Amino acid sequence: MGRWIYYLCCNILGLLTLLQFLTLSCSQAPVSPSSVPHIKPSYSFGRTFLGLDKCNACIGTSICKKFFKEEIRFDSWLSSHLKLPPDHLPSYTGNYTDDSKSWRLVEISRLTTKYQHEQADKRICASLSKTKSCSIERVLRNTERFQKWLKAKRLTPDLVQGLPSPMLRCPSQRLLDRIVRRYAEVPDAGSIYMDHLSDRDKLRLLYTLAVNAHPILLQIFPEAEGWPFPKYLGSCGRLIVTAGSRPLKEFYSSSPEVVADLALQLLSVVNSMRNNDLNYLFYFIHVDDGTFGIFNNGHLFIRNASTLGIIDKQEGIQLTDGQQESKDLFSCLASDCQSAFPSCNSVREKQSLVMVCQELLPKLLKGKFLQPIQEKIDRCLRLCADSFITEQEVSDAAGKLVEVLKPLRSCDSHFAYRYPDCKYSDKY
Ligand SMILES: *[C@@H]1O[C@H](CO)[C@@H](O)[C@H](O)[C@H]1NC(C)=O
Ligand SMILES: *[C@@H]1O[C@H](CO)[C@@H](O)[C@H](O)[C@H]1NC(C)=O
Repeated sequence: MGRWIYYLCCNILGLLTLLQFLTLSCSQAPVSPSSVPHIKPSYSFGRTFLGLDKCNACIGTSICKKFFKEEIRFDSWLSSHLKLPPDHLPSYTGNYTDDSKSWRLVEISRLTTKYQHEQADKRICASLSKTKSCSIERVLRNTERFQKWLKAKRLTPDLVQGLPSPMLRCPSQRLLDRIVRRYAEVPDAGSIYMDHLSDRDKLRLLYTLAVNAHPILLQIFPEAEGWPFPKYLGSCGRLIVTAGSRPLKEFYSSSPEVVADLALQLLSVVNSMRNNDLNYLFYFIHVDDGTFGIFNNGHLFIRNASTLGIIDKQEGIQLTDGQQESKDLFSCLASDCQSAFPSCNSVREKQSLVMVCQELLPKLLKGKFLQPIQEKIDRCLRLCADSFITEQEVSDAAGKLVEVLKPLRSCDSHFAYRYPDCKYSDKY
């Protein structure tokens, strides 16, 4: 430094060089005076892009470090020199690494659209005063609902009543305990009492449940235990990171072996939604081209759980339907809050199967096979898509479809999720 001071005193040109040097060394990687400045690529990480500036009106921060360490990279970063992707998309594909050698595909998604988030944030501020900006967090903290959360030891149905997520339409105490016990954004989960949640954690959990219960579903029914959801890797601000997959719609024109295999997996997932060890009935209120996804190994699962409802068949429904549900700020974070919530009693066991038979299976199976097989498939599809016949008739048609499809799939390494097991047992 002494040398620089010498320049500074004696030479105005030296002063300029010094300033230039200081500017360079502040904005870039450390530069030694003897070497040519080497520009290290760096993502100027938008806290706003991640939604980190909105915390604790956010999902969490468990995976932020990986973003900042560039161990999660967006698709376009690699190609178009480290720019953030456009901020209005619902989801992004990315690459994720733990050791900076092997990378795996992940999906980075928002719980709702950017527009809806902005509308909701505005509504929160408007509820307080006429000013445009405010501390969203402070307003949410001061709500009656959150004050009740702060005092509560256990998450009870009254604390989530009026939240729009179909998962919380008909909550049992068993389900709510599971949420608290398995909430992965806090380090030491495991208890049904909310002692391990700080005020901040409670606000994040409530916010997430209110906007979209998708991340909570992935956390409490983990893929590692055989549930048909992608692995939850963590969240940062208002983005969540999960295992990557390709949406079902990319497979509509695949070969007959592939579509037969996917149709069988679809039917099996839908079946497990009402027949599982824990005695929960999972049901869709809506399915579309992006509801299901396929991993690299060919395994199919539920990619977007935001339209998934749950009924506890063991404990039953605790909120009675006639009860007035009071709506508050948290009821309106994901929508305009105008429409009425569907009632628990209107849910029928077969409804997800009927939806899948109406919306998705025809796109996979129509016109793919030779006669008379195609004819048989079409007949089964017509029946299982019929919402006016009995539960039993719909189930029987789906069962028949499984029988027709089973011999049509093949057993080879393209189906890594069941190969080579399928060589030895026809269970796979
Ligand atoms: C992930 O990384 C691989 C290898 O570096 C690259 O080929 C691929 O395009 C990347 N994919 C995404 C989604 O970034
Ligand atoms: C999940 O599904 C909902 C309802 O169809 C949709 O609004 C949302 O954009 C989807 N989310 C993603 C990340 O695709």
